[in-house]
Amino acid sequence: MLGNSYSEHFRKLREMNIRDDDVIICAYPKAGTHWIWEVIQMLRGQTTEYHKHIKEQHMLEATNIDSFDAEPSPRVLNSHLWPKQLPKQIFEKKTKIIYLTRNPKDTAVSMFFHFNASSDLNYHGNLSDFVDLYVNKQLPYGLWYEYVLEWEKFFKTTENPFYQFSYEDMQQNPVDHVKGLAKFLETDVSDELCEAIVDACSFNKLKKANDEVKDDFIKPFMKEGRSLYRKGKVGDWKNWLTVADSELIDQMTAKRMEDSQIKLKYTI
Ligand code: A3P
Repeated sequence: MLGNSYSEHFRKLREMNIRDDDVIICAYPKAGTHWIWEVIQMLRGQTTEYHKHIKEQHMLEATNIDSFDAEPSPRVLNSHLWPKQLPKQIFEKKTKIIYLTRNPKDTAVSMFFHFNASSDLNYHGNLSDFVDLYVNKQLPYGLWYEYVLEWEKFFKTTENPFYQFSYEDMQQNPVDHVKGLAKFLETDVSDELCEAIVDACSFNKLKKANDEVKDDFIKPFMKEGRSLYRKGKVGDWKNWLTVADSELIDQMTAKRMEDSQIKLKYTI
């Protein structure tokens, strides 16, 4: 992944060249970025062919900045960073931003399993320990609450065009959102192609494509037999969180999101 030091990488990232036709997907980890990245790649390529790359190869904080210059247009960038950490030209050029959220309980469970499956992060705690970290401490990219509140504030004043939706919305109305994204991106695709993209990017098909079609970029960072494509459901938190874990997230959400307009869906 990164060949240079993190501080040098983040300095270069702020100054990196953004092209007029770039788009960027921004989301807290585990909101479903892999899914939406593939959908956007297909929409922009007007195809249902899977991209050979995985989204990490187009992720600002995971890939050498120099390698982005070699990527053909149109590029679908993605990041879990906060607005103030993104390349300055994203704001100068008013790059289109696709912003995805997911409810904090499913995000916590998905993230716990990601930490568990990662050979890189090497996390050994149990889920309740993780929930404590998740609501109270600093995780990579900050707390879920801080992240979503910061983006909510950003969207109130930004001049960048943006398309904002949630993992739960996408699960409920995938065709409507793929059509909405096509319109947002000004991509001329038929309704039939939008439906075919939804089908090609369904959980099982994308999981299979990830194993069979895509580069091995991330596999060295996952334990044997583990996948980022874990369950792909809304409401799986009910199978894993204890009543106490769930109540702790409810309390934190009520406290921290008091002034937020964000509507959270825990089931569909
Ligand atoms: P779970 O761990 O709950 O299964 P990210 O891409 O941001 O890392 O998010 C990963 C989450 O999105 C995982 O959630 C993964 O299973 C889910 N996901 C990936 N592709 C999906 C798809 N096509 N449909 C539904 N969920 C998907």
